[in-house]
Amino acid sequence: MKDTELINHAKAAMKNAYAPYSRFKVGAALLTKSGKVFTGCNIENNSYGLTICAERVAIFKAVSEGEQDFKAMAITASGSKTAMPCGACLQVMAEFSKNLSLIIHNKNGRVIKRKLTDLLSEPFGS
Ligand code: THU
Repeated sequence: MKDTELINHAKAAMKNAYAPYSRFKVGAALLTKSGKVFTGCNIENNSYGLTICAERVAIFKAVSEGEQDFKAMAITASGSKTAMPCGACLQVMAEFSKNLSLIIHNKNGRVIKRKLTDLLSEPFGS
């Protein structure tokens, strides 16, 4: 699948973001090795700490549907600053796919490509 196609899935998911507190909307689209796409958006809560990021929503949806091998994730956000995935999301990604490709897009059309290992070279492991 082309990067632009995966980015378009992330953009569509961002429309469902529930972000009344930060007003910062994020969308993610996760491509599995089997070729399926799972999307996620950030979902905030009045009890702020219960907020979940778009990336983890997409991963948890995929895992709960029986998928654990991931190829790439596209991420997009409503701000003009490029939203790099947070550390918690990187650790969750590393649990499943060490070689994950990240395609990080912002509303100005800028795209940054990274490997998960570029952003989290030494994930926690017990
Ligand atoms: N957020 C994400 O969805 N992904 C990230 O990687 C970092 C932050 C969300 C959480 C919150 O709803 C909003 O962005 C502002 O922090």
